[in-house]
Amino acid sequence: MKVVSVVGARPQLVKLAPIAAAFAGTPHQHVIVHTGQHYDADLSDVFFSGLGIPDPDVHLGVGSGTHGVQTGRILAALDPVFAAEQPDWVLVYGDTNSTLAGAVSAVKQHIPVAHLEAGLRSFNRRMPEEHNRVLTDHAADLLLAPTEEAVRHLTTEGLAERTALVGDVMVDVCLRIRDAVRRGEHPAPALPEGIDPNGPYLVSTLHRPDNTDDPERLAGLVQALAGLDLPVALLAHPRLLARAEEQGIKLAQGGIRVGRPLPYAGLVAAVLGSHGVITDSGGLQKEAYLLGRPCTTLRPETEWVETIEGGWNVLVPDPAALGAQWATTATRPAPGTERGTPYGDGHAAERVVQVLAERAA
Ligand code: UD1
Repeated sequence: MKVVSVVGARPQLVKLAPIAAAFAGTPHQHVIVHTGQHYDADLSDVFFSGLGIPDPDVHLGVGSGTHGVQTGRILAALDPVFAAEQPDWVLVYGDTNSTLAGAVSAVKQHIPVAHLEAGLRSFNRRMPEEHNRVLTDHAADLLLAPTEEAVRHLTTEGLAERTALVGDVMVDVCLRIRDAVRRGEHPAPALPEGIDPNGPYLVSTLHRPDNTDDPERLAGLVQALAGLDLPVALLAHPRLLARAEEQGIKLAQGGIRVGRPLPYAGLVAAVLGSHGVITDSGGLQKEAYLLGRPCTTLRPETEWVETIEGGWNVLVPDPAALGAQWATTATRPAPGTERGTPYGDGHAAERVVQVLAERAA
């Protein structure tokens, strides 16, 4: 069996790591295509080196652009790659513009498409990721669902027959790296200057367009982080830096210490060393949950509803609307409640390879 994986943005590289490792132990051929959606070393190269992912076989180098331009460029560049490779499966990951373009190019060429992390829904049609997920799920031939909730959404949309519950490959990689960090196999994370790694601190990331692109909204969120009693290690995505600069918003206010995005092991170590997490990232909500740190999510909804149970994740659509309760929420200790294993047992990637092989034409 030959499988072409299409990746391009940071969260896809994290998911690719366990998949590439699972293929490595098999006779199957695994071809990696990097679209170049993310091109900064902090968002791309460090994930390949840090997670032991083989170098991409093909690099499309598409870069940034409006959604139409970026998606269109990827689509056009993928056509000849798939035509030449003629794989048994094109495997697309998550919900970015690279995911949608990969699915569309493959389906138009009658090449079977499998979607990893299928069935997630925010039901928020303002999110580019929501369009990408829905369109990709309906185009794909095989829907690899991470959770029972995702299977329920796919079933509701009439896609049950194409669905397989495999678990979440992010558990595979997160737990492996957590154990390596605990064994001291990774250097201490490069936390922003001014964060005491031994003192209590919060880890924060912000990059969703709904949070970064409206000046009033972004200024309000920055103010909310700045006013907390604990120092905030703000690991700034390039989109956040660019929008803050354009809008004349200073990020380094109050307790906020601005730093660069961290490589994966650095992020895991930073979260393990933290008091808690404040984010709008889907991946980080789940990593906080898996690593046992309370998370505050600056969004009105989450796709990862399982993290909400037991108070591990709390949604705060608007910190200002909470008044004094914002600070108590954002700095709350970890709840004493048990966490289940809604995301699987850490062997999802092997199951993905197995299901692909079973269902290859
Ligand atoms: C993308 C995904 C999002 C994912 C996120 C993780 C889409 C629609 N969104 O959002 O689902 O959670 O990646 O990071 O696919 N930029 C750089 N350097 C880079 C990449 C981007 O400076 O390496 C800048 C671009 O110039 C642009 C902004 O960041 O201004 C947005 O990049 P883009 O890839 O379009 O979307 P993300 O916000 O990263």
